[in-house]
Amino acid sequence: MEIIQYHFTEHGDQRGQLIAVEGERDIPFPIRRVYYMYGVGEGVRRGYHAHKELEQILICMHGSCKVLLDDGSERKSVLLDKPGTGLYIGHATWREIYDFSPGAVLVVLASEIYDERDYIRDYNEFLNYLTQKGR
Ligand code: TYD
Repeated sequence: MEIIQYHFTEHGDQRGQLIAVEGERDIPFPIRRVYYMYGVGEGVRRGYHAHKELEQILICMHGSCKVLLDDGSERKSVLLDKPGTGLYIGHATWREIYDFSPGAVLVVLASEIYDERDYIRDYNEFLNYLTQKGR
């Protein structure tokens, strides 16, 4: 499984840092939704789902967290700890997000608005879905 990360341009000067992320330019899809997670307690693990179509970019804006990616044949963990780096998660990828540092803020840029029908929230169902798709 290939891990795809985008490194965004930091516009820094003596006043501080600024990063801009433009849909279809800095990332491969138009941004139709932004959501963020914060106040995630120590030891909490969340996610536990895959999407049929949705594409996402995860950016840890403050602090750090880890993301486990699973394509049904391989599992890889990625540490997110830089506001200038975005982790791409395509469709049909199981993800779990864990090890949030105190005060961590995880921002997610998504290719579609929220639709529960796009979720696969059961791991065995995820594996069956991949088999059906011939992957
Ligand atoms: P959930 O999918 O459980 O979060 P996780 O990413 O950890 O799997 O989402 C938590 C709640 O927020 C759930 O009730 C659905 C809701 N939600 C929205 O209403 N809109 C969204 O864009 C997202 C991502 C979640």
